[in-house]
Amino acid sequence: MTEPKHPKKDILEDPRPMGDPRKTPHWKTDFSVDWDATDYVSRREFTRFLGLSSAGMAVGTVLIAGLASVGARPVAEVPPLRLGRVEDFSPGSSTAFEYPAKGQYSLLVRHEDGTFSSYSQKCPHLGCAVYYEPHEKVLECPCHEGFFNARTGDVISGPPQRGLNLVKLDIRDGEVWAVGGGGH
Ligand code: FES
Repeated sequence: MTEPKHPKKDILEDPRPMGDPRKTPHWKTDFSVDWDATDYVSRREFTRFLGLSSAGMAVGTVLIAGLASVGARPVAEVPPLRLGRVEDFSPGSSTAFEYPAKGQYSLLVRHEDGTFSSYSQKCPHLGCAVYYEPHEKVLECPCHEGFFNARTGDVISGPPQRGLNLVKLDIRDGEVWAVGGGGH
């Protein structure tokens, strides 16, 4: 006698009459799956899994936020930097200087009316160096034509989504000092 071609043929030939609640349902016989070996996941188990996953993600998020704040650099006190005497800077001119850290540059602008403004030279879009354009009296980023108000540092037009970082200035005894701010 030869072996049956389909090893689960006995399932297909369930002799119990139609309507018998013990009869194997069609959805089980329509697919050649060994249902006994299948791991069923009940709705309750699945709900528990979802709940645990959500709780795990929430805990992970809190942990990451906590670690980020622990690892964040403290905002360092930046020592004041003397930039020069007021008369060293011509109205309508700009001067770049290294501040607030080595390798970070800022720009001092002396406006036509003799007042000063200062900003980080790093464009908040993709980091190119901005420069002062004296004819239009704006700060310009040459990389993607970003323009900034020279008196406020706010974006006038172009891709930058925020203004330039302000450098705080102090004029004391006829000297211009950078006293904080700037940076990236
Ligand atoms: S880097 Fe300045 S506008 Fe893109």
